[in-house]
Amino acid sequence: MPDSMRTIPVNTRPAYTVTIGPGLLTRCGDLLADTLDTRRVAVITDSTVAPLYLAPVRESLVAAGFSVCSYVFPAGEGSKTLTTLSSILEFLAEEHLTRRDCVVALGGGVTGDMAGFAAAVYLRGIRCVQLPTTLLSAVDSSVGGKTAIDLAAGKNLAGAFLQPAAVLCDTDCLSSLPAAVFADGAAEAIKTGVLCDESLFSLFESGTLAVDPAQVIARCVAYKAGVVERDEREQNERRLLNLGHTVGHAIETCSGYTIPHGHAVAAGLAVIARSAERLGWTESPLASRIGACLAANGLPTGADFSPEDLAEAASRDKKRAGGEITLVIPRRIGACRLRTVPVEELLPIIRAGWEA
Ligand code: GLY
Repeated sequence: MPDSMRTIPVNTRPAYTVTIGPGLLTRCGDLLADTLDTRRVAVITDSTVAPLYLAPVRESLVAAGFSVCSYVFPAGEGSKTLTTLSSILEFLAEEHLTRRDCVVALGGGVTGDMAGFAAAVYLRGIRCVQLPTTLLSAVDSSVGGKTAIDLAAGKNLAGAFLQPAAVLCDTDCLSSLPAAVFADGAAEAIKTGVLCDESLFSLFESGTLAVDPAQVIARCVAYKAGVVERDEREQNERRLLNLGHTVGHAIETCSGYTIPHGHAVAAGLAVIARSAERLGWTESPLASRIGACLAANGLPTGADFSPEDLAEAASRDKKRAGGEITLVIPRRIGACRLRTVPVEELLPIIRAGWEA
């Protein structure tokens, strides 16, 4: 294996490996040949990624003996719907994919979620390989087996857990990402740094993400793999990975999904850090440190919606249970905890962190 290639085992059921390095898409056929016992795959991708990477992925798979069909849907969160899911399922059926065959999700978070969910429900579940092409999908969404679509009432409200058969993260894809798309992934990576420890968080303060993204991705994936191994179905510890997401999802919903996920999570993280500090749940100067780190990585620390609208949207979040919702509160870098509050307390909590 070349020195530049890192592998991280994820010991879930089933177990799989996340491989991180350059040039993986053009070698994906060989890299998957031993992992998969089928030679029939359906590549699901979107209209942004298809012109960039579908041809080399297909060529590599065909050269390794795979028979390949592909389905391209319009890029964007607006496609993460039942309608797209239904079209993908009909496509898999028309192409006669069987239980032994495999879906290959080629793209960012939306593609991984959509294709993963299709694989999870087609024939009651077939395998899925994730080929993340964005920083966000590399550091977070391609690992851990969460798949979902949005409903009119909110984000990710229908989904399933399906651990991938393998994740191949080609770091060459990152160099072609527009700055805003790269920043979107930085938000999930910084979130992981806040959860994990000082040594990971300081990589974002020192600008290491831009110069050595492979190192940062590997650190984030290794942290997430440990959490997912201990709590695959998000019953307990995995809920910490939702840091910044309650307000973040509310921002996405209020914006009609025009604010991208990572940007919304960044603002949500900044808000909850300020709330926690002002409500005496955390040590100062955590909020200003997190805010400065987000801003230095091209991310927002607020959004243009009223706390009332956000609290209303957040009260419909899937993390609500009965009249309560569980928030993730940062106490210091490397120490976050869950705090369950009555839904009525969301508004004063959001208000506390609203003003920068
Ligand atoms: N993105 C959070 C998780 O996978 O649990």
